[in-house]
Amino acid sequence: MLADKTVILGITGSIAAYKAADLASKLTQAGARVEVVMTKSATRFITPLTFRSLTGRRPVDMFDPDSELGIGHITLAEAADIVVIAPATANIIAKLAAGISDDTLTCTVLATRAPTIIAPAMHDSMFHNPITQDNLTKLKARGFTIVGPEQGRLASGDVGMGRLATTEKIINIISNLLERNGDLASKHIVVTAGGTQEPIDPVRYIGNRASGKMGYALAKAARDRGAEVKLITAPTPLPEPVGIEAIHIRTAAQMKQAVAEAVIGADALIMAAAVADYQPKSTAKAKIKKTSPTLALELVRTPDILTEVTGNFLKVGFAAESHDVITNAREKLEKKHLDLIVANDITDRDSGFGSDTNKVTIIDKQGNIDSLPLLTKREVADKILDRVVELLAKR
Ligand code: C5P
Repeated sequence: MLADKTVILGITGSIAAYKAADLASKLTQAGARVEVVMTKSATRFITPLTFRSLTGRRPVDMFDPDSELGIGHITLAEAADIVVIAPATANIIAKLAAGISDDTLTCTVLATRAPTIIAPAMHDSMFHNPITQDNLTKLKARGFTIVGPEQGRLASGDVGMGRLATTEKIINIISNLLERNGDLASKHIVVTAGGTQEPIDPVRYIGNRASGKMGYALAKAARDRGAEVKLITAPTPLPEPVGIEAIHIRTAAQMKQAVAEAVIGADALIMAAAVADYQPKSTAKAKIKKTSPTLALELVRTPDILTEVTGNFLKVGFAAESHDVITNAREKLEKKHLDLIVANDITDRDSGFGSDTNKVTIIDKQGNIDSLPLLTKREVADKILDRVVELLAKR
């Protein structure tokens, strides 16, 4: 999604400037054309040569008579798909809020119509100062996107709000803003992810090996294509994706309730979660002691969320199968009244639980069978969403 996009990366004079090197490198690796603009004080923390080496392009200076860009800031402002200032000092925030333009960066920001992201990094006391807060409020009201800062250890040794947002977070926001007009713009998509946990007693549960990776990949891909995404997630170690409303649940019953609420007004429900089929009939109030040589647990069926949920939205299910993959998946598609089912063979080592890749077959109501090669979960997510877009367009 970053391929062939022009990202103007503004860097200002904060100790966090060294982190901009990682951001420039990752954006370049993702295929973006990264044009770096450094303030004078930024060059005291990190050299233009670093960025020239990482991006393959010389940082832009509007006062450079040999610049290939002509009137540097105007050329940049027009070419920009997005502007990102990371790190942004209290000084640049104040200048932008006041409309001051006295260097290449402020002139570019003033001249561009591209969305602009500001990632502040400064000492906690400067960030919390009402002057900085007022300036940020002003910039937000003008449509700037502010990301971070984050809580943590600061260069001074103090702990506070002031650390530059992580590279991953900034790139997530960039992708999000770039794809605002994607093919799922204004669509509401509900995704479930992870494996539910059914409590036996206060410390134990029945779980499964689902990692949540497929569901999270779907949620992020839908977000990047412009959708409003609600992610109903069972516990996973995955970081909460930016720009997505995450609803945390634990049990199948809680997931059912969350899905029922989230699908109101939704265009599609994609159930990637591995929902437990059985739950303990009752949950012990106290921790069960190991006093008897055997222990029998009585289990009862959980609600089948996909079968029971109704409404005017596309229903997409998953079928993790160990044999007769296609036959079993088709049966589920019919039984659960689905528009699409994504089947995968869990005996395949590269596919399914925990792995970063998946080899799936997408089957629709008409009986069309699309067997995909081994792909990353993100690629699989986009293939599924291609079908969702196609089906939504027919409605
Ligand atoms: O029947 P089976 O569990 O194989 O079906 C898998 C599909 O049904 C998945 O999309 C899963 O999220 C969903 N499911 C559900 N409620 C259950 C069990 C599975 O919605 N109790």
